[in-house]
Amino acid sequence: MEKIKNICCIGAGYVGGPTMAVIALKCPDIKITVVDVSDDKINLWKSEDLNNLPIYEPGLDEIISQTRDKNLFFSTDIDNAINEAQMIFIAVNTPTKQYGTGKGMAADLKYVEQSARKIAEIATTNKIVVEKSTLPVRTAEAIQSILKSTNKKNSFEVISNPEFLAEGTAIKDLFKSDRVIIGGDPTPSGNKAVATLVGIYSRWIDKDKIITTNIWSSELTKLVSNAFLAQRISSINSISAICEVTGADVDEVALAVGKDHRIGEKFLKTSVGFGGSCFQKDILNLVYLARSYNLNEVGDYWEQVIIMNNYQRNRFADKISTSLFRTLTDKKVGFLGWAFKKGTNDSRESAAIYVADKLLLDGAILHVFDPKVKTKKIIYDLKFIWEKRNYSEKKIDNLLKRIFIRKSPCDIIDKAHAVAILTEWDEFKNIDWEKKFNKMKKPAFLFDGRNILDKNKIEDIGFKLFQLGK
Ligand code: NAD
Ligand code: UGA
Repeated sequence: MEKIKNICCIGAGYVGGPTMAVIALKCPDIKITVVDVSDDKINLWKSEDLNNLPIYEPGLDEIISQTRDKNLFFSTDIDNAINEAQMIFIAVNTPTKQYGTGKGMAADLKYVEQSARKIAEIATTNKIVVEKSTLPVRTAEAIQSILKSTNKKNSFEVISNPEFLAEGTAIKDLFKSDRVIIGGDPTPSGNKAVATLVGIYSRWIDKDKIITTNIWSSELTKLVSNAFLAQRISSINSISAICEVTGADVDEVALAVGKDHRIGEKFLKTSVGFGGSCFQKDILNLVYLARSYNLNEVGDYWEQVIIMNNYQRNRFADKISTSLFRTLTDKKVGFLGWAFKKGTNDSRESAAIYVADKLLLDGAILHVFDPKVKTKKIIYDLKFIWEKRNYSEKKIDNLLKRIFIRKSPCDIIDKAHAVAILTEWDEFKNIDWEKKFNKMKKPAFLFDGRNILDKNKIEDIGFKLFQLGK
């Protein structure tokens, strides 16, 4: 096992930042440099005011204040950080491909490939390269091939160590991971590299939670874990639709079903649809993988998880427009929440984007409040999907004139025809709905896309309330 004194992490995002901060905290003797191509992001990581860190994650600011400029550094000097490091984590983004073969399904590995080429170009010593990004099975082979064929002077060992943190609880998850998976080649040098990384994690994670596997199992485990989690949400969301027509209550069903310890109670909360940067992209990736091996039934099976998620988002948007007498034109609809879940400023693939899109196209005027997501990001999210559909600049400008990002829940509720809850932020539970009722147009509609409101209380006030699966 090699003694590691210097680590570099390529990619200072939601994974690179928090994971390296925790390793730095737990291993004060290791110097860690997190690098990124984005000057802006690195500058934010360096900000003195910790409220300006590029990502919001409970507890992260505290760790950054303890480690930054001691053994944790943020830099755009990628070459130097690579050159100094014995171990290099690749934690760059792997979005769904938007062009060419596999468009809309396969993972776009261009940033991973760029990272591998950079390492090969710069390295003057042997390196352990750790795949932290979520990758299709057998990507390690491609990385290994780039490294070996481009840099013949040094040796490289590629190992896989997928990340399982969830946003909003990243620090808690990193401190007390359910498991750490490390996959490597079954060769003496592969085993040595795996043992070296095990040595780092075992400083704070129990040994029995550190699972070592072959490299392909490790890569596949990550995709399968996300697919299983998302599948549970789509399953309960499909049941929410059945509950609405039969009179059953989805929360009661989920509670009772989840009490069976073989099923378990987590990830059975019905919602307007799962979001986040990974569930959809990783399932699409799995579907693509299955179909590329001609396993079409397997691909179809997993694709249904995505189809059900789209159905749930559309169903929620349709419920709003049909309830408002099928005319949304120039009606004010308030959105409480934009983030894909509470506890994060991340809105990638948030259900809010897709519900907003449908309502805006139907002529509604949207007023949005989210405690953490920035205005710029909300506009970016919408523009991104409209540009993908090739809408003209004029059409996009006209649509954007119908959306207002507000600073408080009051601003969005006053004079609204309807209010929809898209994110389960705790502060939305504590809104004084009795007071708000008087400020809204009548009938006053509330659409609870997260089932966080007390049905009886809200209906007693006089609201027309829609909750999923009720
Ligand atoms: P992110 O977009 O937040 O961060 C990725 C960063 O990599 C960006 O800042 C980007 O500028 C940088 N980058 C891209 N190419 C680069 C290059 N060649 N050199 C230097 N920097 C480069 O992405 P993320 O959410 O941190 O996800 C990273 C990976 O981890 C993805 O594969 C994702 O699927 C996986 N993952 C994410 C989460 C999560 O909660 N977000 C959890 C587990 C796994
Ligand atoms: C998820 C996984 O939980 C992590 O293990 C994984 O590392 C990560 O994806 C990743 O690979 O990126 P994350 O997307 O941050 O983490 O958040 P989750 O808590 O899993 O929630 C995902 C979405 O599902 C959210 O929109 C959430 O609101 C929704 N959800 C979750 C439900 O609708 N119902 C539930 O019961 C649980």
